[in-house]
Amino acid sequence: MPVPSPNSPPEPLASLIATRKVLVCVGAGGVGKTTLAAALGVAAARMGRRPLVLTVDPAKRLANALGLRAFDEVVQRIPVEAFAEQGCRVAQPLDAAMLDVKRTFDRVVTRYAPDPESRDRILHHPYYRQASTALAGSQEYMALERLYEAATSGDHDLVVLDTPPSAHALDFLDAPSRLVDLFDSNAFRLLLRPTSRLQRGMFRTGSVVMRGLTRFTGAEMFGNLLEFFGYLSSTFDGFVQRARDAQQLLQSPDTAFVLVSGCDDASTQQALYLRDRLDQSGMRVGSWIINRVAPFAPGPCQAGEELEAGLEALLQRLGSEVPVGDKRAAHRLAQRLGQVAREMGRLAEQDQSHVEQLRAQLGPSLPLVAVPRTADEPDSLARLCALAQIVQGEMQPDLEAVP
Ligand SMILES: Nc1ncnc2c1ncn2[C@@H]1O[C@H](COP(=O)(O)OP(=O)(O)OP(=O)(O)O)[C@@H](O)[C@H]1O
Ligand SMILES: [Mg+2]
Repeated sequence: MPVPSPNSPPEPLASLIATRKVLVCVGAGGVGKTTLAAALGVAAARMGRRPLVLTVDPAKRLANALGLRAFDEVVQRIPVEAFAEQGCRVAQPLDAAMLDVKRTFDRVVTRYAPDPESRDRILHHPYYRQASTALAGSQEYMALERLYEAATSGDHDLVVLDTPPSAHALDFLDAPSRLVDLFDSNAFRLLLRPTSRLQRGMFRTGSVVMRGLTRFTGAEMFGNLLEFFGYLSSTFDGFVQRARDAQQLLQSPDTAFVLVSGCDDASTQQALYLRDRLDQSGMRVGSWIINRVAPFAPGPCQAGEELEAGLEALLQRLGSEVPVGDKRAAHRLAQRLGQVAREMGRLAEQDQSHVEQLRAQLGPSLPLVAVPRTADEPDSLARLCALAQIVQGEMQPDLEAVP
């Protein structure tokens, strides 16, 4: 695979889909990250690559289309034939899976625990369930862990990672370094090492610290918590190394970030902010998708106008043959149709000008892809295929082209 140099010209999105190992969709809440992550996966399958889409919380009907069930991280395969049944041709099956923080955490502990006893002590500890989902940054860290696992397993050519809304996406970018910093800190190691003299002294029953804590928390609970972190600390070296590897993967030329926004200012600002943060963190933003652009659909707009004019002409011709009440109703209907047509045109113009402004602002260094708002939610393989064609630049983004 050709590795781009820092000065190489910007590549179209289709080229990123064809060559990268990891694509990460980031953006504000609800802009279409999950939908587009699936569409990017379909695009890769059309190109003959073996894609895996790792999703976070897909909308129910999209999850159904991808064969995913809640709380199930098993990789689901959508065979080439399932696409063919919906009239789409792909060269490879599409694999999809949901991120499951708890199970990924289980695997990490299993991998890095020094022996089976330590592993079981951690996995069966009463605090484990809470810690594996509630530890600060654990969700984000585990998403990365899963990404790293998938990207290095050799089972797929491309992993497309969907992320939570951007506030959390930033946590997600920081997660490896925060974890490395935390676990690497001497104070943390000293405190948590089960044999640490400091820990034994400070937290022995009856010590000043313990007497104080008992008053607030109950010694048993605190002791249990400390014990749990003590056990967990045996896995830290593995965690830290893995977090470093995951961070390197995110910064490598094999990974490209795809910003997703809508046509509104808030999601555009968030995407701009993310772009800067990614740049600062040494990560490559490869493309920007502006989603749900109101399509200028000359067909329906024109039809509405024509219908209004046609009805008016008809009413004129029929003259007194039509009862006055019916005439008024037909008149109102004609006007309404014309209004709707004009409103559609106005919205489309507004969105088009937003796209053009953003294109000018970004300049040639960051390719911008406009994806239209489809008439129905893109929650079937056929609709994902249509979106895939658009992100590949094969289909003009207009409403009538999308099923
Ligand atoms: N191009 C499109 N045309 C029409 N509807 C779309 C399009 N893209 C996404 N949608 C719809 O918009 C909604 C939000 O999409 P999606 O769930 O992919 O967003 P998200 O960014 O992943 O949201 P969250 O931040 O909550 O995870 C869904 O109902 C989806 O079907
Ligand atoms: Mg989502």
